[in-house]
Amino acid sequence: FLAAGGLVAFPTETVYGLGGDARSDRAVATIFDAKGRPRFNPLIVHVAIAENARAIARFDERADRLASAFWPGPMTLVLPLAVRHGLSPLVTADLPTVAVRVPAHPVAQALLSAFGGPLAAPSANPSGRVSPTRADHVLGELSGRIAAVIDGGACAVGVESTIVGLDGPARLLRPGGLPREAIEACLGTALAEHGEGALPTAPGQLRSHYAPDAPIRLEATGPLPGETWIGFGRHEGAAGLNLSVGSDLVEAAANLFHMLRLADAAAGRNGAIAVAPIPDHGLGRAINDRLRRAAAPRG
Ligand code: TXA
Ligand code: MG
Repeated sequence: FLAAGGLVAFPTETVYGLGGDARSDRAVATIFDAKGRPRFNPLIVHVAIAENARAIARFDERADRLASAFWPGPMTLVLPLAVRHGLSPLVTADLPTVAVRVPAHPVAQALLSAFGGPLAAPSANPSGRVSPTRADHVLGELSGRIAAVIDGGACAVGVESTIVGLDGPARLLRPGGLPREAIEACLGTALAEHGEGALPTAPGQLRSHYAPDAPIRLEATGPLPGETWIGFGRHEGAAGLNLSVGSDLVEAAANLFHMLRLADAAAGRNGAIAVAPIPDHGLGRAINDRLRRAAAPRG
């Protein structure tokens, strides 16, 4: 399917990706159409090994250090494009930079090796909606628009990769599955924040994103009448979903998108979702980032 320019959804350790040949204008255009994604939002290019990323992007000493520490794994680097990168210009939305990642999931690794080229792969959900962490999430929303989905079970990390911009001072472009603290320790410097008011070069930077149908109330101490509850840690007497009874942020990240979907279905037409406070460190930063965007005004 991929060699013929078709789209194949596949599991990564973070979320399911919607893969297409990153060198093919037609395949990449089909990804944007299938997701309903605005074309100014560039895609992440996935490769099997770091050496393949060097054919696409220019690595400096910081990129070398992060790649050898954290690839394969849930980290994406934004780097200047290499001279003969061979990518469709649609992948990068004509930017002079490219986002590259080496996923750790064995199915993603096997697919990339078998295909033998770079795969553009955004999360396999309609633009602006909750990301998929299981094959049936993908089928529920993209069936009929893709050639296939490879079922690899539930994703272990559950939130998207952390995106680090290295086309200047190191910046955190999106908190994700690799904690910011680990990246800063490896670089020996603090990461700058993505500048407020800068153009959204990542869809995850758009204010409303990862959104279910039901409205969401954050930092809730318990459900109000008509609300479906998503807890964290032990809450007296609160029935419903719980991201992690033992207050484990890794477990909570893995459960986040599936529980948002379950709560959305439970809330129905007129209901709402209330979510307990989540500590803002480690993977909690990525969870809170996704929850804030899921709760943001729509439109
Ligand atoms: O974990 C992940 O990263 C998943 C799995 C499938 O690998 N992929 C993913 O892709 O989250 P997507 O398309 O949903 O998010 C890609 C993000 C977007 O926020 C996009 O704007 C940003 O990467 N991005 C891509 N190229 C960029 C560039 N050149 N500069 C800045 N941001 C870029
Ligand atoms: Mg996405």
